[in-house]
Amino acid sequence: MQLLDGKFVAEKLKLEIAEEAASVLAVSGRKPHLVAILVGHDGGSETYVASKMKNCEKVGFKSSLVRYEETVTEAELLNKIDEINQDPGVDGLIVQLPLPKHIDPEKVTEKIDYRKDVDGFHPVNLGRMMRNLPCFIPATPYGILLMLEEYKIETAGKHCVVVGRSNIVGSPMSILLARNAYPGNCTVTLTHSRTANLSEMVRSADIIVAAIGRKNFITADMVKDGAVIIDVGINREVSESTRSGYKLYGDVDFDHVAPKASWITPVPGGVGLMTIVGLLRNTLASAKKEIY
Ligand code: GUN
Repeated sequence: MQLLDGKFVAEKLKLEIAEEAASVLAVSGRKPHLVAILVGHDGGSETYVASKMKNCEKVGFKSSLVRYEETVTEAELLNKIDEINQDPGVDGLIVQLPLPKHIDPEKVTEKIDYRKDVDGFHPVNLGRMMRNLPCFIPATPYGILLMLEEYKIETAGKHCVVVGRSNIVGSPMSILLARNAYPGNCTVTLTHSRTANLSEMVRSADIIVAAIGRKNFITADMVKDGAVIIDVGINREVSESTRSGYKLYGDVDFDHVAPKASWITPVPGGVGLMTIVGLLRNTLASAKKEIY
């Protein structure tokens, strides 16, 4: 078993991003600029957004955080998005999900100018992705592709089983791995909570992408010898033994699955760190006008 080391790859790719950001600054006199909107005080969202902002600073981007209380109206939020869309000093805009129930996430997603949609959630970007056209790719699937590429994992002709059909990870991941590209050219099965014979299905996989959001959901009996395991799970549990007060668990029962795997991502230290790299790459591409 070998580790797909997200920390190592992310640090390496962030150095490259920092170099490119420095040349953007030298040429245009400005840093790539990411704006994040955070509504409310969800613990997970607070952590993710703080990490996104911190990593922007690390690679020499400008980052701005716009905060709203949970009581913000949908109209107020949409107005703010409009304002940021029109600000030529902003390259990327993300609205951290989930949003409070009274705000429609579809309206918010569609309001963001697709040319600044560095999360890759806008229908224009998703449509272009389907057609293999230049677009912003959702950050987590993008980070996974970068990781597979870094370790030169063979994907062509492999059977990839994606577990979980979310808009953010599972659905785009399944499309990307089936594309005529590297990494890609997989035969993909997209599974979810209503899939019959899920264990059998997963057992037939050469590559497993676990994005179901349930601690230790993928157990050793569901994994074929030599499979490549990508664990997207970030399941937080209260723990008194850690500094943050939380302990993170993946969707994969790492201790029992790892001995059967050829390659596996740890949690933490795997996909989560690569998600940030995907977001930074999209923001840089936007600043360099590489896509639109
Ligand atoms: N919530 C969980 N993951 C994400 C993400 O990648 N982007 C945004 N905006 N919200 C999220």
